[in-house]
Amino acid sequence: MKLEALEVLKNRRAIRAYKPDQVTEEELNAVLEAGTFAPTGGGTQGVQIVAVQSPENVAAVDALNAKVLNKPDAHPYYGAPTIILVFETEACFTHELDGAAVCTNMLNAAYAVGLGSCWIHRCKQMFELPEGKALLKKWGLPETLVGVASIALGYADCEHPAAKPRKNDYIVKV
Ligand SMILES: Cc1cc2nc3c(=O)[nH]c(=O)nc-3n(C[C@H](O)[C@H](O)[C@H](O)COP(=O)(O)O)c2cc1C
Repeated sequence: MKLEALEVLKNRRAIRAYKPDQVTEEELNAVLEAGTFAPTGGGTQGVQIVAVQSPENVAAVDALNAKVLNKPDAHPYYGAPTIILVFETEACFTHELDGAAVCTNMLNAAYAVGLGSCWIHRCKQMFELPEGKALLKKWGLPETLVGVASIALGYADCEHPAAKPRKNDYIVKV
């Protein structure tokens, strides 16, 4: 499935229920590649994208987010079979914004290829905890990475949500 760009930007919605089936490599790669083409301040590409797919790692990341949420029994990634983590790689004052741009590109790309996705918060706090640092070490990544954002990714197991009406004063033309 391929949708026109503006249709994708308007119709993408946060998906909060997922089928257990894993996404295909082709779908995942399309989403990740779209992330790498996001704008970054000064073109520095100071962002690290980590695709988490092994059930063990997905469960660890889900539990870590639930811990930060202070709801240890919660599943903040809604059972999605893939989690994408976005990190800043070094101290630079645009990198958090760069990570947000990368994340947004991936959410829209996910919808364009027929996947559901949802931006999930608390990535910064997750990877400040010893458990988060331990995961980075296990994955062979620098423990200095700073979490910016994360994404639940998979096949939607719900009706496509409707967008809320846009607020009247969203745009001012001067
Ligand atoms: C910075 C940010 C953090 C978010 N964190 C969460 C989250 O932790 N859990 C969640 O279910 N949705 C989260 N969302 C998704 C928003 O709730 C969602 O985008 C918003 O309700 C609008 O819905 P839409 O994406 O369908 O337009 C987050 C979105 C952003 C931009």
